[in-house]
Amino acid sequence: MVAGRASEIGHLPEKDAWAFEAIKELLMSEVGFDLEAYKERCILRRIYLKVRSGGYSDLGSYYRILKRDRDELEHLVQYLTINVTEFFRNAAAFTYLEKKILPALMLQHSVHKSLNVWSAGCSSGEEPYSIAISLLRVRRKHRIRTPFRVLATDVDKVILARGREGNYSRDALKNLEERDLKDFFVEDGNGYRVSEELRQHVTFRVSDVLVDRPGRLQSLILCRNLLIYFSREKQERVITGFSRAMHPGGYLMLGKAETLIGMNRLYFQSISPTERIYRLRDVPLADSRTEPIL
Ligand SMILES: C[S@@+](CC[C@H](N)C(=O)[O-])C[C@H]1O[C@@H](n2cnc3c(N)ncnc32)[C@H](O)[C@@H]1O
Repeated sequence: MVAGRASEIGHLPEKDAWAFEAIKELLMSEVGFDLEAYKERCILRRIYLKVRSGGYSDLGSYYRILKRDRDELEHLVQYLTINVTEFFRNAAAFTYLEKKILPALMLQHSVHKSLNVWSAGCSSGEEPYSIAISLLRVRRKHRIRTPFRVLATDVDKVILARGREGNYSRDALKNLEERDLKDFFVEDGNGYRVSEELRQHVTFRVSDVLVDRPGRLQSLILCRNLLIYFSREKQERVITGFSRAMHPGGYLMLGKAETLIGMNRLYFQSISPTERIYRLRDVPLADSRTEPIL
């Protein structure tokens, strides 16, 4: 089976194609990480970098190490998932949300009904904490009491644990205004940790965006700088999943280099093309929702 798939990877030498397929199978069977969903060229480039920097002679010898070294296998998942992030990444997008979308969204919810926001592919927590800070700022500014919860998910459990801990260096917080730093973080040794107020709004869960969906319908979904690593087909599938995970009229924010694919262009209306913000149209979707998992 492994050797049979080698011909599909035309640009790889036969021995490497075999090892590449074997690595994919190992990742799937041992840690449930499905490389098929990701752009092959991008994944291969990173695996070769890993082989070279680790001093392995070829892909096959790296595969043999992975087979017997669980830590290295988990390390590879982390390396492949690319966790780059920062607080208020693409600040203009957050400003747009704060000015034009969040106040109205909060007002639509009464004080008894929680506003649900999902940060999918949240890495080490900077994105979910940023949107939670935005929501807290909007609440204060407009004197609204709407409760809200931010669900923060990522497939990489190691990086997610960092978000859950909520400890950041001063440098990681450089995009924050002084006032937000004072209001939402507590100085702790050499760095800062998120305040209890901020922490209580954000829930972290290990979860694969290709498979899982939250139990509650969301009013806003942020999925930024993750879809670019997926094949077109998977991008479309994930966005369709989002359309089923949100209230009609809910908002979706993608990363700067990402856009809607296929049929999803019909389901969503573009609200800000520059900030990649879309709104789910108010029409019921034909297909039913699957069982919630998160
Ligand atoms: C480049 S980071 C983006 C972080 C943040 N959204 C941002 O824009 O700053 C991409 C994140 O997506 C996560 N990821 C990759 N594949 C995933 C999947 N199938 N399900 C959930 N998260 C995934 C990675 O672990 C990584 O933390």
